[in-house]
Amino acid sequence: MAAIVEELISIRPKPSDGWNVERIRKDFPVLRQTVNGKPLVYLDNAASSQVPVMVIERGAQYIEQEHSNIHRGVHYLSMRATTAYEGAREKVKRFINARDVKECIFVRGATEGVNLVMHGYGRKFIGEGDEIIISALEHHANIVPWQMLCEERGAKLRVIPMNDAGELLMDEYQALLNERTKFVAVTHVSNALGSVVPVRDVIESAHKYGAPVLIDGAQWAPHARIDVQDLDCDFYTFSGHKIFAPTGSGVVYGKADLLEKMNPFQGGGDMIKSVTFEKTIYADLPNKFEAGTPAIASQIGLGAAIDYLNIIGREKAAAYEHQLLSYATERISALEGVRIIGTAREKLGVLSFTIDGVHPHDIGTILDQQGIAVRAGHHCAQPVMKRFNLPATARASFAFYNTTEEIDQLINAIEKVIEVFV
Ligand code: ALA
Repeated sequence: MAAIVEELISIRPKPSDGWNVERIRKDFPVLRQTVNGKPLVYLDNAASSQVPVMVIERGAQYIEQEHSNIHRGVHYLSMRATTAYEGAREKVKRFINARDVKECIFVRGATEGVNLVMHGYGRKFIGEGDEIIISALEHHANIVPWQMLCEERGAKLRVIPMNDAGELLMDEYQALLNERTKFVAVTHVSNALGSVVPVRDVIESAHKYGAPVLIDGAQWAPHARIDVQDLDCDFYTFSGHKIFAPTGSGVVYGKADLLEKMNPFQGGGDMIKSVTFEKTIYADLPNKFEAGTPAIASQIGLGAAIDYLNIIGREKAAAYEHQLLSYATERISALEGVRIIGTAREKLGVLSFTIDGVHPHDIGTILDQQGIAVRAGHHCAQPVMKRFNLPATARASFAFYNTTEEIDQLINAIEKVIEVFV
């Protein structure tokens, strides 16, 4: 483990260096395999990204040498596990620039993050006649929990519409805001289209009406810097498995004063100070929101993934990913009969497309035969598909270990699809 970190630090790019993608790829063992007889081309990073050796080894170290429960034991292993788990929380705090570790709650992923806020804040503070604003770009994870709340409490869901490019209509947002607006929940980046949402404006406007704002950062976190204090968001959530950590890890950030007055999400061990049959006193933050034994190995892995991103240089990785997206957009745009869905001026990481006369699932299957992994379907964003009158799209999504050669392979494979079907 120490040797891996030392080696990584020794190859840390200087500001003047280019992006050494061949070196970076060596950190990701999963990429060294063939699929259907072809080298794997992994372009489904928006669903789950891959895990570098440094993160795998950190998780394995916990399982091999530290495996035990946290916060509970006075014995050596439990103390080591607790230190590692809380160390990961400290890394998350710095990663998102939270004021305090108590504002960083570990969850299974962004979906659980949204649900925690809906239960903890929404069920306590939102009632009959109140309004919740979401956007037309949302993933189901940031629609369904709010619909459930509206149904239960008699509140109303309002939706910020988008234009044909997949950009939110911010004037319409302004028109939706009023004194009944009690909560705003929007994505930072659309998982289906890649559009970047001007969340700073969303937050500033909502605050004029006293409405707290949750940002779903699942698709932003892998690509760009998060500064929750600078954004002044009230809640921010993201998943570990999209930022090079194992599944089962994730974070929901909340401003401490809001988290303090919210109800716990789940009841159980570790979230209490004392329990009698008459009354339970809840634990202080962040434990109040972490009932039961968490995904310790995964959250420690998330801490290691943050270390990895810091070592390789997040800004450089982001600039390189931007080049990949521009290159792929240029090449796909040149193909006859291929239509890019989502042409927002500002996009991150995701390229959705359709081919005239070919179902996206067939595109996905033929690409898979070439060893190329993309997602085909509605991307858990059926309202986005409906807005474009489509049942589904094929979606290529990029990470800093992808190459322009892989994009060329994608283009060749799309040409084959067109040959076969059109
Ligand atoms: N939310 C994930 C995606 O967009 C699963 O693919």
